Amino acid sequence: MSYPEYTHEKSRALFERAKKVIPSGVYGHLGPAEGLFIPVSKWPMFSERAEGTYFWDVDGNKYIDYMCAYGPNVMGYNDPDVDAAALAQLKKGNCTSSPGSIMVDCAELLVDTVASADWVYFAKNGNDTTQIAAMTARAYTHRKKIIFFKGYYHGISPWQAKKDYNGVLPEEVWNNIIVPWDDIPALQKAIEENKGEIAAIIAQPYDHGNFHDNVIMTRSFWQKVRKICDDEDIQLIIDDVRAGFRLDLAGSDHYFGFKADMICFCKALANGYNMSALCGRDHLKNAISGMNVTGSYWLSSVPFAACIANIEKMKKLNTPQLFDTLGTKLINGLKVAGKEHGFDLVASGMPSLFYLRIANDDSLYLHQEWIAECVSRGVFFASHHNHFINAALTDEDIKTTVEIAEDAFKAVKANHPELA
Ligand SMILES: Cc1ncc(COP(=O)(O)O)c(C=O)c1O
Repeated sequence: MSYPEYTHEKSRALFERAKKVIPSGVYGHLGPAEGLFIPVSKWPMFSERAEGTYFWDVDGNKYIDYMCAYGPNVMGYNDPDVDAAALAQLKKGNCTSSPGSIMVDCAELLVDTVASADWVYFAKNGNDTTQIAAMTARAYTHRKKIIFFKGYYHGISPWQAKKDYNGVLPEEVWNNIIVPWDDIPALQKAIEENKGEIAAIIAQPYDHGNFHDNVIMTRSFWQKVRKICDDEDIQLIIDDVRAGFRLDLAGSDHYFGFKADMICFCKALANGYNMSALCGRDHLKNAISGMNVTGSYWLSSVPFAACIANIEKMKKLNTPQLFDTLGTKLINGLKVAGKEHGFDLVASGMPSLFYLRIANDDSLYLHQEWIAECVSRGVFFASHHNHFINAALTDEDIKTTVEIAEDAFKAVKANHPELA
């Protein structure tokens, strides 16, 4: 089947306007510079509306969306149950002088749902939770240093930046130690060299970084890390901001068979209503209670109502299982479509968060070309970031995706006679 390419005149015109009044037009991961939209010319810049697994750009083009707003769309855009709960709460009150009683309901539900959680500290962004987790670990241990795994991203606070980043002082990252993933001897060496000084290890549940094949850790790796932390009094922080609730509704630490000391959630919590939650274990409750961290909207009630409806629905649908099934089906279809045109498509990471790479070409150009051809025909992928499955995705959507992907492979092949 042949799918015509989209055009983006209104998107481009809007971007020209945006550049005049917004730094870099659209900044951060939703923008062309950092959003991994390579080559940028094939991507829309602005959306008009969204529904279920789709969004429409300002030029009226429809996309099957595998970026899911980089994670928050877990149930489908505008999910009727989540929206109804949020709107009902909005009528009762949202940002109020005393928090709504629903905050306690939401915390109780999270403590019941997340295996390692004894308490919940609410905030707004993923970065808030990783920031508060590091502060809590430092307050509890009275130590400064933090171990990260290579290629980490835990947010935008200066302490978690790299030292050559604009606006970051060398002393803000002095206490960071970076070790490779899945290398217990290197981790032990780093701890030995900084004996009694390490407050925490912070890590995603597996290596789901950008620009490289994603690598899933073994249960045995995590058991060893847990034991090292116990032996050395190091707090183990799991950053589940991106993967949270897509592997296991009880937390990704539960999926890998261990208990984090603190676990950070954000993206999949409330289907796009803005909230995040740091969950932690009892021994840290006193330390976090004594800290001065809050925000204007952190205790607003509408997201709590959305979160409760969303978590209950994720449990009803068993979304981790559903995402695994849908993701596996999609990956298999894409690989077959690639093979038909001589492309070796490699998928890595969890099927619910699959990462793609065409392995025919080390330069990644072919891969970028294929992804762009998919996007300009209605399948919203990103070149070097993991993708996301949501609960509104159907088998019919997967069939259409594979057809478009096949058409895109055909277009790339036609541009590269040298591959024949
Ligand atoms: C693994 C991980 N940690 C932390 C963050 C930061 O979350 P936020 O952008 O909500 O502050 C992100 C965001 O993409 C993330 O993917």
